[in-house]
Amino acid sequence: MDKKKVLVIGSGGREHAIVEALSRSPRVEKIYCAPGNAGIAALAECLPIGVGEVDRLADFAAENGVDLTVVGPEAALAAGVVDTFMSRGLKIVGPTKSATRIESSKEFAKELMAKYNVPTAAYRVFEDFNEALAYVKSRPLPAVIKYDGLAAGKGVVVAENYDEAEAALRDMLLDESFGKGRVVVEDFLAGPEFSFLCLVSGEKVYPLELSQDHKRAFDGDKGPNTGGMGAYSPVPFIPEVVREEALEKIMKPVAKALVKEGAPFCGVLYGGLILTADGPKVIEFNARFGDPETEVVLPRLASDIYSFFEAVTEGADFTPEWNERPMLGIVLASKGYPGSYRKGVEIKGLDKVKSRVFHMGTTEKEGKLLTAGGRVLMVVGEGDTLAEARENALKDIALIDCPELFHRSDIGRQAILP
Ligand code: AMP
Ligand code: GLY
Repeated sequence: MDKKKVLVIGSGGREHAIVEALSRSPRVEKIYCAPGNAGIAALAECLPIGVGEVDRLADFAAENGVDLTVVGPEAALAAGVVDTFMSRGLKIVGPTKSATRIESSKEFAKELMAKYNVPTAAYRVFEDFNEALAYVKSRPLPAVIKYDGLAAGKGVVVAENYDEAEAALRDMLLDESFGKGRVVVEDFLAGPEFSFLCLVSGEKVYPLELSQDHKRAFDGDKGPNTGGMGAYSPVPFIPEVVREEALEKIMKPVAKALVKEGAPFCGVLYGGLILTADGPKVIEFNARFGDPETEVVLPRLASDIYSFFEAVTEGADFTPEWNERPMLGIVLASKGYPGSYRKGVEIKGLDKVKSRVFHMGTTEKEGKLLTAGGRVLMVVGEGDTLAEARENALKDIALIDCPELFHRSDIGRQAILP
């Protein structure tokens, strides 16, 4: 069989998990990763090309006979990497810039959902501070205020009172601290959140297993919003009928809607969903693999991921198979994250760890492994139950020696603890 070369774009834990899954494929002979990290380097050849350097990435793929490219981060999508690859006839898994608006513009996503009757919170869009404030005051609390644009998951404020709401609106609309001001104000939805990642090819939707992220920095869902401090899969309190409902009423209609609107989607459509008393509703969409969800979902994939990606680029049938064993991953982040933090601190003890460890922000220097980001490592425990997976992850974390790292100890609480 003709063996394949794959390029993965990105440098985090999500890309490490994609590379790890590809490394298990009997069809793949060579994996490149641009730019990669110290963990990825054990499985792939890392390239000194940034995620936004789309022409250099395409040149590399064309000159080195890369059969398929997989995009991790939104920055690469926003830079138009998929449009460039497609215009040059290079195979790539990821949405075009136009389809990426489902993530990059909350207003676009909200309008699409309203037009196609996809369940989500009632909302309005504002540019004017006084109008926004008047609207907030006319609605029940808490108010959810979202900056409209890419803000790395941090441009959302859940305001418990009108003072907090006013401060958030001032920040986003008057101080322009986020860039050009425009906000979506929406009603608060109550219920457990879960992540539904689906590979999508036009109207075709290939659902992955459910997972749950933990966005706040500290135990008990306290502290600031982060990129995600831990995740697990499966999600036992989301019954199969709810998943089915989310697939039929949310994910498939949105894929269809994007085709109708002239922005057909290829890649991962990530539904950030919430199970309300009226069924599942959309909190947000992302146009890429979730991070850290990917690190607990892809290790459960039993099918060959290269064949899966290939089917997606061709719109062919493919039914992925999954391992039943639960995975629970805990992020080790630099103290201070998501605010400022130190980099370049040595990490020891990884050689003793038995669980999977995905590198989120590491680098190697003179044979030493160093921290190089806010989120640094993710230890993914596996077990017969989620509780056992959690114990295994925590046991292994205790073996990792780095004074600059902290982690949450309650990942999976909703699913495990009474
Ligand atoms: P987002 O960036 O839109 O995913 O929002 C970040 C987090 O804010 C979500 O994971 C939720 O916890 C919370 N959130 C956002 N929108 C709502 C909403 N309408 N109701 C309740 N919580 C929300
Ligand atoms: N885990 C949240 C995200 O990937 O945006």
